[in-house]
Amino acid sequence: MPPNFAELKSAAQQRQQELSSKPWIRVGTALCGKAAGADAVIAALKSELQKRHMQATISEVGCLGPCFAEPLVDVSAPNTPRVVYHNVTPEMACHIVQSHLVHHKPAADLALGVVDAGGVMPGLAKLADHPMMKGQVRIALRNAGHVDPMDIYQYIANDGYAALHKALTSMTAEQVREQVTKSGLRGRGGAAFPTGTKWNFLAVSKQPVKYVLVNCEEGDPGAFNDKGILESDPHSLLEGLILSGYATGAIKGYVFIRHGHEGPIDRTWKAIDQAYELGLLGKNILGSNFGFDAEVALTGDSYVAGEETALMEAIEGKRSMPRYRPPFPAQVGLFGKPSNINNVKTLSYVPQIILKGGDWFASIGQDKSKGTAILCLSGDLKYTGLMEVPLGVTMRHVIENMAGGSRSGKRIKVLQTGGPLGGVLSGDGMDIALDFEVMAKAGAILGSGGIIAADESTCVVDLTRNLVAFCQYESCGKCFPCRTGMSHLLEVLERICRFEGTAQDLELMRSVGQSMQAGSLCGHGQLGFNPVSSALKFFGSEFDQHLRDKVCPTGRCNEPWNPPVKTRRY
Ligand code: SF4
Ligand code: FES
Repeated sequence: MPPNFAELKSAAQQRQQELSSKPWIRVGTALCGKAAGADAVIAALKSELQKRHMQATISEVGCLGPCFAEPLVDVSAPNTPRVVYHNVTPEMACHIVQSHLVHHKPAADLALGVVDAGGVMPGLAKLADHPMMKGQVRIALRNAGHVDPMDIYQYIANDGYAALHKALTSMTAEQVREQVTKSGLRGRGGAAFPTGTKWNFLAVSKQPVKYVLVNCEEGDPGAFNDKGILESDPHSLLEGLILSGYATGAIKGYVFIRHGHEGPIDRTWKAIDQAYELGLLGKNILGSNFGFDAEVALTGDSYVAGEETALMEAIEGKRSMPRYRPPFPAQVGLFGKPSNINNVKTLSYVPQIILKGGDWFASIGQDKSKGTAILCLSGDLKYTGLMEVPLGVTMRHVIENMAGGSRSGKRIKVLQTGGPLGGVLSGDGMDIALDFEVMAKAGAILGSGGIIAADESTCVVDLTRNLVAFCQYESCGKCFPCRTGMSHLLEVLERICRFEGTAQDLELMRSVGQSMQAGSLCGHGQLGFNPVSSALKFFGSEFDQHLRDKVCPTGRCNEPWNPPVKTRRY
């Protein structure tokens, strides 16, 4: 019997009602929840419930967003508001059970906020009013921290797979592509290429075997939103992937995840297995003529494996080095077959676009930057974590209002956006809008959405050395302008930090940078001078002080240097 979507949905809703009718505790166990001690908190909750002979469901959920407040424990019970508690220790967990579940009195002093709009109690603020949550528009993150990523029924109960059902029963592949084009969705991996156009490139190929690939290499320091989605709501990505297969005529999808990230890997595999069990993957999906397969593929320990042709080499079992182009992946891709590569965030928007229409998505954002930006905030900020904001808001609003400004109280001096190759921005230039074109014009990229903030105790020359050390370590070595250029830049920066630089060093770095830009095979080398050029643009005087006056204005370079990574020498 082909699965009946209405029956699946009604079973999912019934299970959801059963869950809500009893005490239900959600604990964040995405990477930062675990790092902050979520496993010990779960053990304490279980033993406290057992001691009191109480029945409650404990669900492991993903990232709600306020990672600075982990471990987060979200407690709901009939007749009490749903409350999220922050920085919970095993001792606090016992107190929460006693107060919230035994005495039906939420522990207001431990609460971050109340989730349900209607459930506000005196002394308890709404979670939605927390500075970090206020103003968020959550599309791809709508379920993050709310549903159990290992339970497909919770996803289905929250409109999950409704878009796939809609597409398979009432839309042609062309109509799906039209809606995606109309939405103005652009790739969120860094290049911001229009997704509808990319899908059309693949759809026109009449070859019987085509692939769609998902890029979750996400090796940029400070970027964790792709992994965050897979750990929190892998079915959103999976539904988007299946829809992209339907829209382009592809027969199989690969979700390419950086090895070692067990949370995203395990949860994505589980989601795929569950989707097969319910007939949402495989032959004749939901009783239609459409069939599609999916699996997880792992990268090696390589940043450059995130480059789309290197990614295909890795899936084929080869060393992950970029290929020469043309031919482009839409003509000759994985295993020589036409292929599309999309970022996790990009595909995770697609189910909502198909359900609500391209015009709805296009109404969010500004100009040519439609929809939302999914940001990962880290560094010297008061509130760090994941957030989703409409494109067009200013960086100042995000940093000063939503992230609460600097944690130390010192001035934010520098922002590093879009990964090491995105370069740095001065903290004085925060009035820039989050918009692909505006940011590119200012010499920065939104890239994958990582924003690292550093206060005025940071030496920019030292920071640049760290960024270049990362890029040098990660160069795949295939072409010499990048391979030797990165090493050369690092050597010069190291001697500037030791106050041994010469007056010619800046010119030397510029000429190396030009050669890298002109002669490198892939973006890693072509953009590899960005950290240095952007630092010189905004903080040239700091380089001068190191070179001419032999002083570091922050004192950082007076201390012995421990390399951030073991750099590779060629
Ligand atoms: S530019 Fe760098 S990372 Fe890219 S192929 Fe060349 S050596 Fe490898
Ligand atoms: S991982 Fe817990 S809120 Fe982000």
